[in-house]
Formats: sequence, C-alpha cells, structure tokens
Amino acid sequence: MPLDVLIRGGLLVDGTGSPARRANVGIRDGRIEAIGELGGAAATETIDATGHVVAPGFIDTHTHGDVAMFLPEAHLDVKTAELRQGVTTEVTGNCGFSPFPADGPHADQVAALMGTLVAGSPHTWPDLAAYRAAVSGAGMFTNVAPLVGHGSIRAAVLGFADRAPTADELRAMTRLAEAALAQGAVGFSTGLVYAPGLYSRTDELVAIARALAGTGRPYVTHMRGETDMVADSVREAISIGRGAGVPVHISHHKASGRDNWGRTAETLALIDAARADGLDVTVDVYPYTAGSTLLHSILPPWALADGIGAMVARLRDPAARQRMKRDFAAGIPGWQNQQRAAGWDGIVIAGCAGRPELEGKRIDALAAAAHADPAELVFDLIAEQEGHVTMIAHTMRDDDVDRVVAHPASMIGSDAIPLPGKPHPRLAGTFVRILGRDVRERGLLDLPTAVRKMTALPAERFGLRDRGLLATGMVADVVVFDPATVLDRATYDEPLLTPIGIRAVLVNGRVAVHDGEVTRVRAGNMLG
Ligand code: ZN
Ligand code: CU
Repeated sequence: MPLDVLIRGGLLVDGTGSPARRANVGIRDGRIEAIGELGGAAATETIDATGHVVAPGFIDTHTHGDVAMFLPEAHLDVKTAELRQGVTTEVTGNCGFSPFPADGPHADQVAALMGTLVAGSPHTWPDLAAYRAAVSGAGMFTNVAPLVGHGSIRAAVLGFADRAPTADELRAMTRLAEAALAQGAVGFSTGLVYAPGLYSRTDELVAIARALAGTGRPYVTHMRGETDMVADSVREAISIGRGAGVPVHISHHKASGRDNWGRTAETLALIDAARADGLDVTVDVYPYTAGSTLLHSILPPWALADGIGAMVARLRDPAARQRMKRDFAAGIPGWQNQQRAAGWDGIVIAGCAGRPELEGKRIDALAAAAHADPAELVFDLIAEQEGHVTMIAHTMRDDDVDRVVAHPASMIGSDAIPLPGKPHPRLAGTFVRILGRDVRERGLLDLPTAVRKMTALPAERFGLRDRGLLATGMVADVVVFDPATVLDRATYDEPLLTPIGIRAVLVNGRVAVHDGEVTRVRAGNMLG
C-alpha cells in the first residue's frame, strides 16, 4: 500500500531538541508511518524538502481563537494566519475566557464576557461537549486544544459581581471546572486583570484549581499584574500551584511599563527557585515589545463591575469619569494600571468593527486631532462601542522579551486575538519571527531548542500525547520551512502578511499549505 505523503530530502528537527538529521518521512492515515531512508517507497503525494527543515507542526500555547472558525469567509486572512506560519494546534480558552460553560444562574453573562473578544458574535455553549459538537462542522484550519476559563465559570455563576463567592457558589464553580476537565479541557485558565476574574481572591483560585489535581493539567494564568505587581503576581501563581498541588503555567510572561523594565530577571529567578523546589512551573512568551487586549481593560476595577451595561452607564456619568481619571493618575493599590504603563502615546486601536477608521491610530494622535482630552475620547469610544474595541499597548523592552524567550522553562505562545481590523502582528508572525529574527539573525537560541519550545514542550505541558514530535506513530502535524529565509512579514501597519519561507504544513496528515499557499484543506480537530 503506498504512503499518502512522502516528505523527501529534508533535515529533521524532531522536537526533542536533538541536532538536525537527514531523513525522509512517510505518512499514512494521518500518522507518521516511518522515518528513515524509505528507499523505493511509493506515495500518492511527494513533497520535496531538499534544503528545508522538517519539524513537528507548531503548537501555539496561547491563542484566543476559540470561535475564529465561525468568522465569515471574507476574513480568510485572519482565519488562516496561524496556519500560514506553521501552527497546527492552538491552545485556546486563555486568560479566563472560554466559550463554555454557559451554565448557571448567570449563563447569559458568559456571552457578555466572550462578546467583547469576538465582536458581536458571542457564541457560547453550556459545556465543552456542546462546544466540541458545534465546531466539528465549522471547518478548522488548525487543531484546537481548549482550556476552561475561570472568567467564564465565574460569569456563569456570579455574573460580574465584585464580591467573593458563597460556599455554594464556590462549589458550583468547582463542579463546572471538574466537568470541563472530564470532557477534555487541557487546563484551567485565569485572567486576573479582567472582570470578573479580577474580583477573585487567591483562596477561591486554589479551591477551583484543585479540580486539576491528579489530571496532570496545568493552572494557566494571566496574572494579576504584569507591571508594578509582577513579582508578587508570580508569587501568587506559585502559591496557587502549591496550594492546589498542580502544575503552573504563566501566560505571556513579561515586565510591563518603564518602571519595571529589567524585572524579568527577578521573576525568572522566582520561577527557577520554585522549579528547583519541585513545583512544575512554565511560561509562554511572544517575541514583541507590545501587548494587545481589550481597550476597556485599562479601566479601574470598580468601573467594570456588574457587566458591560453598568460599565457603559458609568462611562456616561461625568462624576465617574473624573474618578477614573484620578485613578489613572494616582493608581489603586493592588490594581495594574495599564494606562500609566503604556501612556496615551503607547496605546493604538487594534480592532473596532464599529469605527474601522480608527484602527491603527494612536490615542494621543486621535485626541490631538479632535482637540479632546485622551481619557474623555477613550471613555466615549468604549461607551459608544459597548466594549467592542481592542488595543495594542507598547509597554515592554527587548531585553526582557529576550530573557524570557531564552529561558529553559519558556515555550512560544502568540496570544493571538484573531479579529479583523489591525490585529497585533503576533497573530501572523510570532513563530516565524522566532525562527528568522531570534534564531538565524540574532543567535538568541539554536534551532532545535526553538523548535522544541514550539512543539514537544507545549505538547508535554498540555498533555497532547501523540503530537509535538516527529516519530513513528505520532499524528502527522508537520511543517516544512527554509531555515535560510524563514521570517515574519507581519507589521503593526500590515499585520496579516504571509511569512517568508513556510513551504508546507500538514494538519492531521493532510496538506494544508503547499508551496507556500493555503490549500483550503480544513483538517483541524478539537483535541483533549
Ligand atoms: Zn492574557
Ligand atoms: Cu491572552
């Protein structure tokens, strides 16, 4: 019986971190059938990989592509951006946002939470099984491995209430986490800068994270602070892992805001110490000095309480506006003041479906052109768009990013928010930027190490047992790229440009990118 696909003449970088070696790869029925000389093997399709590297398909440890499969076909450039850079699996449900479980007295509030990230199409499901059934017919370019989000669980049970849960509510939240894990969620995520996650105390998170005990799945966290509180936030994450007896994975690790530049040396030392002490702590990182999130996440916590409607009402109240401006200037103890970390000159509108003409524009420039106060302009915009605005915030320094990328406990995650407009270029550029800029041009890390951070390490972290390695019997998620040319082209101005050097991508054994072109094969599955 012939092979389905034979990848011939390439240099294998197999995900283990071992040096490259020359071998051919034979694929049949979605799996790697054989690796070696394979002389005389017949194949239905042959890919000539001469001069190219053959690696496991990249696993993006951190995306917000939970409902990207439902984006209209007109946005094919957004829908294929991950695939075009060699990503074959995305870990979704990050930062506390998952489209399930919309199950509880405030089930409708999960849609309110997700709606801010997906602009107008707030798909939610009562549980992971229903979500899995819904996406199976939607046609996915990549595999999806979902986390269950604490923000969604808390929204379903308590809405956006700014208070601690009762004992019954805490039990209800824990049961929802357990049910999601039983249905295949690959971990439990928190977003402790976003409502309603920011209203939770450490003890609540320890209690729910205990649902992970014995599963091997991690507690995944967008921490309470990445600015002044960054070290305390790492300590809190570690304490939650210790308290619940579970592994910890810190999302998009960074030191944000001029006052905190250089502090990844301090936070990585905390992580090293916890690891030396036996706690399994890892992080993910993207290779850019700007972040991206919801514009309204810059507002103080009290302004976000009780949901989007209440937030909009406060934004229209002059007294509340004055109080928000005072909080921007003076801060609030225990609150990450992102406005101060970035400055109005460091915040750019990324996606705003209702006002596309603002996309790509800096807040200070918009305010100057309108002869308006920048805070007032932002309050008006968030209120008018009911929260459907994302931003790019320039808040980091290169040496911090490099230190995290090079750290042995880091893996690569784009934090992509696949929305039309001018999304952060990390959506289309993260993996190829590491391979081209950081490996080839700057020598920050060697190629086998970089590939391991994109493949075997994330597969191990999230329990994807038959992915992340090129070995006989593994699922045939494969990327073929030219190590001499591979590079990102996506920029803040043109964020969706196809990278250079990605020759072929196979998802579950099917050729989804061929000669650098998307074939429109949608072979992705939901994993877990
Ligand atoms: Zn996040
Ligand atoms: Cu995120």
